[in-house]
Amino acid sequence: MALGDVALAMGLAFWFLLPAYVANPMAVVFGGGVPVDFGRVLRDGRRVLGDGKTWRGFAGGAASGFALGAILQIIGSAGGPSLSFGPWPGVLGILVLLPVGALLGDLLGAFIKRRLGLERGAKAAGLDQYDFLIGAFLVLLLFAPAWWFVRFWEGDAIWGLGFIILITPALHRVVNMIGYRWEHKREPW
Ligand code: CTP
Ligand code: MG
Repeated sequence: MALGDVALAMGLAFWFLLPAYVANPMAVVFGGGVPVDFGRVLRDGRRVLGDGKTWRGFAGGAASGFALGAILQIIGSAGGPSLSFGPWPGVLGILVLLPVGALLGDLLGAFIKRRLGLERGAKAAGLDQYDFLIGAFLVLLLFAPAWWFVRFWEGDAIWGLGFIILITPALHRVVNMIGYRWEHKREPW
């Protein structure tokens, strides 16, 4: 294990997660309109998900993540096999799973927040920072486990996973501060 290999593994892990990372910020940009839960309330008297999760946000986030993934795939394939998201046409599935998994994780996070009695936009340490990452990883493990293990677990790739777990809260914070400045988001977290 050379230092260069570790750095490379970190860079690659970040590269492969970019389509998941952009999904939630782009959901903020595209969001609004009909909520995913259609306004439904559960027996605890709280919304299923709340007004912060909309169909437009979901679709816009998923489409943006897919589009970025397609661009990275074209650039990556030209750059060499290690940057490729995988062979065609299966790669299309991966490029859907990454942002959709992230957005499903975000929905699950909102569901848990509502069950805890937290209003839309309330802070939930841990959940806010990691829900999309957990969602993306779970969906990949379910539908493309070999893809996930090769890129986030086996050999040096595990360093990439550790790096992602470390930087994700900071990244989340920076992106949300930018979003708050732009007034797309109502709270800076
Ligand atoms: N958004 C959306 N649809 C989504 C996800 C996000 O429309 N699927 C938009 C909403 O306008 C939301 C904003 O992006 O208010 C910020 O997203 P997020 O911080 O995830 O939601 P919160 O408003 O904080 O709500 P929650 O407490 O449910 O996380
Ligand atoms: Mg929030």
